[in-house]
Amino acid sequence: MHAPLTDTAVLERIRAHKLVESVEHMSPTYLEGIKRILTVSADTELISAPAYLHAARFAPNINSFGSAIAIVQDELGHAHIAYRLLRDLGVDTEELIYRRDPVKWKYPYAFDVPLDSFYELVVANAFYDRAGYCLLGDIYTSTTFGPWKRALTKVDKEETFHLRHGEQWLRKLAPDPAEHERLQNAINWMFLLTVEWFGLPDDLKKHGEQLGFGFKGKSNDELRQTWMSTAVPLCQELNFNVPAHYDESTKKWVVDCAFPAAFDEKNKLWLLEDGAITWDAVMTRWKQRGPSNAEFVAQVQRGNRGLARLLEVA
Ligand SMILES: [Fe+2]
Ligand SMILES: [Fe+2]
Repeated sequence: MHAPLTDTAVLERIRAHKLVESVEHMSPTYLEGIKRILTVSADTELISAPAYLHAARFAPNINSFGSAIAIVQDELGHAHIAYRLLRDLGVDTEELIYRRDPVKWKYPYAFDVPLDSFYELVVANAFYDRAGYCLLGDIYTSTTFGPWKRALTKVDKEETFHLRHGEQWLRKLAPDPAEHERLQNAINWMFLLTVEWFGLPDDLKKHGEQLGFGFKGKSNDELRQTWMSTAVPLCQELNFNVPAHYDESTKKWVVDCAFPAAFDEKNKLWLLEDGAITWDAVMTRWKQRGPSNAEFVAQVQRGNRGLARLLEVA
């Protein structure tokens, strides 16, 4: 057993443009950091499967049901890749996936709010999968962890399909006033949840090593800008209202309403009249998890528990 590398040794390797390939190339700080970011990614991919499956039942025809199920299948594949990388780093993934308390899961809060119509599903594809695409695209381009970088070639292509699926349905339905209104209602609660998705603003962020070690390339605020730079113009083009605009003087996308804000998750409503809240209050909501957290995690864990019982009987 080798002594673990120091942070300086890892940084030297990175500065020499060599990728980190396995635990032997990592310091304890690098290992903990990469495990943290991989767990968020793996959990997000996996929970999107029951979340999208829940919504697929509202598909208007067999073709769109097929596309929704194909997306669920892709997400399971993406989750498999990320958990497999975690297992190679010594994580007990059976424990992590099948026995972890639902409130300890690390995916974005948005997936805890159930998608209860086909409109909400296609907006999720246009917004949430776009967020995934921005985050993973950045990791694909910039990460110093070689095995993840290579695996993301496939994931990147499939995420493009997911967000195009959302975009195409938005374009198809938007000209019809009644359909436009239904989509707008979904956008009203889903837009800010996706702006929130990118996490704490840079000045409040704790895990500085994510950039130092090059787990990813861009900061939370930069990625939020990347997302808004395509999501907002899409909405504007299709005459959907979103509380954001491009500010010429600062060359940045700006949110026009109270942000971050309190969210009434039962009625899927932002309490904007109450004004902005602190990010601490947002973190409290995230940590408590939302309405479908227990149901979606249980759905993932149920089959494994049944299998374990069957094996005991045998
Ligand atoms: Fe995915
Ligand atoms: Fe996706």
